[in-house]
Amino acid sequence: MHQSDKEEMREETPLKHLAIIMDGNGRWAQERGLKRTKGHEKGADVIRDITTYCANHPTIETVTFYAFSTENWKRPKLEVEFLMKLLDTYLKKELPVYQKHHVRFLAIGDMTRFSKPLQKRIKETEARTKENHSLTQVLALNYGGRAEIVGVVNDIVKEGKSVLTEKDISRALQTPYSDIDLLIRTSGEERISNFLLWQISYAEFYFTPTLWPDFNTQELDSIITHYTQRTRRFGGLQ
Ligand code: FPP
Repeated sequence: MHQSDKEEMREETPLKHLAIIMDGNGRWAQERGLKRTKGHEKGADVIRDITTYCANHPTIETVTFYAFSTENWKRPKLEVEFLMKLLDTYLKKELPVYQKHHVRFLAIGDMTRFSKPLQKRIKETEARTKENHSLTQVLALNYGGRAEIVGVVNDIVKEGKSVLTEKDISRALQTPYSDIDLLIRTSGEERISNFLLWQISYAEFYFTPTLWPDFNTQELDSIITHYTQRTRRFGGLQ
């Protein structure tokens, strides 16, 4: 569905930016006596299913996934290397899927620590999908919410502005639609973990015990139904 058609439906169902903290890959694998990396592999398949669902959803314009946090470097070297390789394979395999479902791919975070070939893959995938308009899939990679805010404030100050407004910061943030409507975290953890701190100001939160590799479109569908039944008052009384 084209983004302009989605615009018309926004009045009734305001869910346009969905954000997901994917958690529980390691536990999913351990429960099955598998290596943690198997959980990540299955997790990547779930990202594909959820993205396709969002591309065909009438109001969702952006889905942002927390794929690698600045804290994830602390994991064993082999696991970090595996995640980097998986990301590369995922993007390579994903290109035809992005094109088929008209999904634009965008990465946020500090990617300078990634290998040059991986950085190239990310840039190329962004470039080749930039005309796609049914959904923007954002992957947060080596991302930290505080670092993102400090980065944009410094950029604006460098431009010569000394007194900033909320609008200045919102406008400068990398995400295309900075306000998040619904944030989901899987695996029973109830933390934000430095994800999109600015953008979650008015978000509804949903925490599910499901481990990320077991998460699916049916569960997402029922979470969205639950979300649309909640009254969003934005601090007012209506
Ligand atoms: C948390 O599970 C998950 C992550 C490290 C981030 C999500 C990563 C993937 C879904 C892998 C594939 C990603 C891409 C973009 C190809 P965990 O390992 O923290 O689980 P645990 O808390 O059970 O140990």
